[in-house]
Amino acid sequence: MNRRQFLTIAALTGLTSACGSGGARRAATPGPTGFRTELRVPPLLEAEADRDGTRHFALTMQRGRSEILPGKPVETWGFNGPHLGPTIRAARGDKVRMTVTNRLAEASTVHWHGMRLPAKMDGGPHQLIEPGGTWSPHWTIDQPAATSWYHPHPHGVTAGHVYRGLAGMFIIDDGDTSGLPSEYGVDDVPLVLQDKELAEDGSPTGDTLSGTFGILGDRMLVNGTYAPFMNVRTERVRFRVLNGSNARRYNLTFGDGRRFHVVGNDAGLLAAPVEVEQVSLSPGERAEVVVGFAAGEEVLLRTVPGGDDIDEGDFDLLKLVAAEKLAPSPGLPARLAAPEPIVAPANARVRRFRLNGHDAINGKEMDMSRIDEVVPAGATEIWEIENTVYAHNFHIHEVAFQVLDVDGEQPPAYASGHKDTVYVPPKSTVRLAVRFGGFTDPVTPYMYHCHILRHEDSGMMGQFVIVEPGTEGQVPRTIATPHGPH
Ligand code: C2O
Ligand code: CU
Ligand code: CU
Repeated sequence: MNRRQFLTIAALTGLTSACGSGGARRAATPGPTGFRTELRVPPLLEAEADRDGTRHFALTMQRGRSEILPGKPVETWGFNGPHLGPTIRAARGDKVRMTVTNRLAEASTVHWHGMRLPAKMDGGPHQLIEPGGTWSPHWTIDQPAATSWYHPHPHGVTAGHVYRGLAGMFIIDDGDTSGLPSEYGVDDVPLVLQDKELAEDGSPTGDTLSGTFGILGDRMLVNGTYAPFMNVRTERVRFRVLNGSNARRYNLTFGDGRRFHVVGNDAGLLAAPVEVEQVSLSPGERAEVVVGFAAGEEVLLRTVPGGDDIDEGDFDLLKLVAAEKLAPSPGLPARLAAPEPIVAPANARVRRFRLNGHDAINGKEMDMSRIDEVVPAGATEIWEIENTVYAHNFHIHEVAFQVLDVDGEQPPAYASGHKDTVYVPPKSTVRLAVRFGGFTDPVTPYMYHCHILRHEDSGMMGQFVIVEPGTEGQVPRTIATPHGPH
């Protein structure tokens, strides 16, 4: 009997399973009638304008109490509130400044996942914010329209910080949205997908560093809402879907098998909408999709098993309830404002990364004082990610990439756009054309890592710096870390 069959039997018989990390303890899908809490939509974070026009956003990391299960208040962490964080929205060309205050009892960081910016502003493990401290990065938004996000990145404890609720969306606008639905919270709606293991008292439990993958929970939250419904008021809705889970991969589909369109990947829009029945997202990945609705209908957004350890199980995620009369939506555009394709030159440098076990890349565990790779500014390189064992994924800070192939096969059309995170199936090799930015800093690294947070925390992460072309050989390979060199 395999694990999934065991879980099915366990669910049917009410057996308590103890089969490793994230073993489902009970059947947690409430069924269509159980979706009774209105979907929360994270508020947009208001910016203040500084004298020079810089848009200033303030975030406070804090502990609080929220009801994941109705009537059961439990401790959660959030930005500017008890759970999750507000949505930041900025446009290409905006100068932004963030004030991040840490009101937690421990040090953390805030990383702008998907953002092209100088390494010092990136919020990786080197930009620690001590309890009571404040960090104020600033940069100019200069990248195509995309759905990004932000989350903590303190080395070794990221999984716990994200799992308790520290995550938020960061939407980047870039001129004309080409007729895509764009009224935030109405027909342009963020969906942060996260799975939890909940104790009897409703609190998130589970050891984020246990087992092979850490937490694989059996309770699905969307924007922190368990068993949510959303009232649909327009003929079409654009969902900005983020897999904000520690380890779970989602294979998203609708209860009635309806087809829908993918319009964007992690780091930008596709050249044209791609019609699909199912979309897969591993942790950290995003997809923008446009879904059509008929007046008066109800349909469930679900995830179905994909055959790997991290996407076992059928779960309903969100019930969509269409109004009796829907406001008309713009027609789906035939072409979208996609960024230029990323093409690696014929003589592109090829770097190889082998994901070993769950705690190393190329045989090395993450070391904050070691620079693993030195990349010349503006380069387009081929990065080859080889996965020898079980499911992983791969995220690179600061860049945009396109997937060239997975074991020699092209990626599905819906995942052929600009990305920053990619699923690397067990025993496979993924090749990426990676475009690096132009912010040079020989002593402050960016990260690349598996975004299964248990793996990232255990050391499946490496560091690269971007330097002035021609100076690669002069760069120190050992740097000081926030707590001194190792
Ligand atoms: Cu979303 Cu290095 O992380
Ligand atoms: Cu990142
Ligand atoms: Cu991994």
